[in-house]
Order: sequence, then structure tokens, then C-alpha cells
Amino acid sequence: MAILSVNVDHVATIREARGIDEPDPVLAAGIAELAGAEGIICHLREDRRHIQDRDLSLLRKTVKTILNLEMAAVKELVDIALTVKPDMVTLVPEKREELTTEGGLDVIRNKEEYERVTGTLKEAGISVSFFIDPNHDQIQESFNAGADIIEIHTGHYSDAKSEPEILKEFEKISQAAKVAKKLKLRVHAGHGLNYVNVKRFSSIPEIEEYSIGHSIIARAVMVGMDQATREMIRLVSPF
Ligand code: PXP
Repeated sequence: MAILSVNVDHVATIREARGIDEPDPVLAAGIAELAGAEGIICHLREDRRHIQDRDLSLLRKTVKTILNLEMAAVKELVDIALTVKPDMVTLVPEKREELTTEGGLDVIRNKEEYERVTGTLKEAGISVSFFIDPNHDQIQESFNAGADIIEIHTGHYSDAKSEPEILKEFEKISQAAKVAKKLKLRVHAGHGLNYVNVKRFSSIPEIEEYSIGHSIIARAVMVGMDQATREMIRLVSPF
């Protein structure tokens, strides 16, 4: 049985749109844990567009499950990880101009850099996951570079439009999960998964954990809209 880790970045995105102090991703993380999430993820981006340093340090104090810090493999963030000590770090490529993480790490091209960062984090007792495309060479190099876990990038599957394309992308993920498991890597998956396209994954037992953010926050807004409106009507109706 796989577990769910909830990415709370987009609660912070809504907060940052107003530049005030709500909604708070730290509170959202607590609610997700109360609902059964077994991990909380936040991406501290170099441009701090959503999650802030304050969020990460409060999450470290409050998360009772597993705190997974997504970050680029750059010195500033490695230093922060060594200070805050999340339970695990997921290394992701990061481009300032992207709306969200666009692809997996190129471990083949940057193996030495990822190997060095991974060694530093593991020495501090932090598990390290590599976010990679479902590509066998990238999996092998992730293993060689010392990753404990790979998170398979499911974005191409999620973006696929036609059924043959969806099946092709899904098959790549399924095969990649098997290859990684044979290397004794732990296998996670995420990006673009939603309440419809995640169902197919029950046929991949190798995937232990799903990392999901946007679709959960989007649904939370919709399922909470009715109650939030009714509560405000009750407040304004005596006027
Ligand atoms: N995994 C990684 C490495 C990501 O960068 C993201 C997006 O922050 C996710 C999972 C979650 O993706 P989504 O928000 O589309 O569910």
C-alpha cells in the first residue's frame, strides 16, 4: 500500500498573492496530517516565490510525519538543509522562469555535483531522493550517485492528451519503477497527479509514495467554497 505526501507550496502561493499572513501552509500541513497524510513536502525555491524560510523552520518544528524539503542542489539550500535538518531532501532542477518544476534532474551530465551534495546531506542523516524522468540511464546514475530514493517524474504522463500517448508514458513509469526496485532504490512518484489520473497507478506496486500538491489544494478550494460562503453569509446577514 502506497502512502501520500502532501505538497503545501500552493497554500503559500495564495498567501504570497496578497503578501499577508494567510492562508498558512504550516496550518495546512497539520490539517493534511490529521487527515492521514504520511508526509509533508515543501519546495524552498531560490526566488522564494511561495514557501518562505519561516515556513520551513516552522514545518520542521510541527510536522509529525516526514518532512521532505524539495530544493535545487545549490550551496545556499544545502546549507539551509543542514541547519533545518528535514527528514529527507528531494533534489530537483530549478529554473527561475518556470511555472513549476518542468523535468527531472540530468544525473548523467551532473553526476559529480549530485553525488557530492548527496554525500553531504546523507552524512547529516538526511535521506536523499532524486526527481528524475522515467529513464533507465538516469536511474542507474542516481543509484551510482548515492540516492536512497528516486521520485519518478509523472508530468509527461499527466500532460499526455491521447490514450496511446498516456499509455506510452505510463508504461515508461511502470518499467522505470521495476528497474529502480531491482537496484534496491525506494520509488516515489509525482507531478501533475490528480483525482482521475492517479487511479491507474494501483497497478505499480513498486511505488511506495505519491507526492501530490496542486490537485489537492485546487480541490480544497472547491470543496471548502460552499462552507466558507455560508459562514460569511451568516456574519453579514444581521446587517
Ligand atoms: N514532485 C516534485 C519534485 C515537484 O516539484 C512537485 C511540484 O512542486 C510535485 C511533486 C507535486 O506536483 P503537483 O503540484 O503537480 O501535484
